[in-house]
Amino acid sequence: MTDGDLPPIDPAGRTAVVTGGASGIGRAIVDSLLARGANVVIADIETAAINRTSAELDAGDRLLGVVTDVMDEASVRALADATEAAFGGCDLLFLNAGVTSGGGGLPWQQEPNDWRWCFGVNVFGVGIGVSEFVPRMIERGEPAQIIVTSSGDGGFAPVATASVYAASKAAVSCFTEALQLNLLRQGAPVRASVFYPSGGLMDTGLYTAARNRHDHLQRQGEGTGRTSMTFDQLVERVATATGSTPAIADIDELGAFAVDGALARRFIIARDLDTTGGLLHDRADAIARGELPPSHRIGL
Ligand SMILES: NC(=O)c1ccc[n+]([C@@H]2O[C@H](COP(=O)([O-])OP(=O)(O)OC[C@H]3O[C@@H](n4cnc5c(N)ncnc54)[C@H](O)[C@@H]3O)[C@@H](O)[C@H]2O)c1
Repeated sequence: MTDGDLPPIDPAGRTAVVTGGASGIGRAIVDSLLARGANVVIADIETAAINRTSAELDAGDRLLGVVTDVMDEASVRALADATEAAFGGCDLLFLNAGVTSGGGGLPWQQEPNDWRWCFGVNVFGVGIGVSEFVPRMIERGEPAQIIVTSSGDGGFAPVATASVYAASKAAVSCFTEALQLNLLRQGAPVRASVFYPSGGLMDTGLYTAARNRHDHLQRQGEGTGRTSMTFDQLVERVATATGSTPAIADIDELGAFAVDGALARRFIIARDLDTTGGLLHDRADAIARGELPPSHRIGL
């Protein structure tokens, strides 16, 4: 069995760690977990955003903020230690922190530091989180779930102008599948999920992700000539490329949906799977014919 082989998790009194939990989708996940009675650790690189979100959510000692760089093993180990010290351990691990590669563009315009930063956060960040937390979760023996935030961009099919980001998300979808296969053989009540945010364009900080880019991973040259854009610019670009007004996702609903899927211990947590299923079938057919499979065409 690869899915749903264990009973759902009751979140009340359990502890969740949410990387990238200070803003965007992560923040909506935190909000939903708190509403269901869980303790939550926000692990984020942005101190000001942790402070702002913690003050707004006002959950007393059920909410802990830990400044964390998911690319850094020592930082993630300190996060796991802080979680244990405050709440005894982690039951729900949302590996959600993510960045772009710094402005899209053509694959050959991407610089080595674009790759290092994007893969550092999106791929190594997931790998390090799993290495630091999962042995502790297995040893603890409590029901636990690891939820990796991927993206339809890469997880299902690439957006051509987001090649590095798409490659990073394909990597974590594949890794999480292998993680789940191994957890199923392990015998502990620990399972994994892949979460694919969807439902329209998302008004989050992703398109200004370069605000958190490390000094030693800055671009050396021109790169794509673009480092970030506002959400309004994104909406305009997509509207121009597609000729229609794009749908906008409700981030709070999306966060609650992710938490529902995690508690139900679904392996794939995604909406709109009927549409995606068609694309995936077309891709499989094209690959089986030895042809280039169809991609996402949202015009970014
Ligand atoms: N926004 C979208 O359209 C979309 C679509 C599909 C998937 N996703 C994925 O959803 C996840 C959340 O993104 P979002 O859209 O909410 O963006 P966001 O920028 O609002 O949130 C990302 C959070 O990650 C934090 N972060 C960045 N680098 C970090 C690091 N090194 N260590 C710890 N924290 C770090 C940021 O400070 C921020 O709070 C990402 O994995 C993203 O790839 C987003």
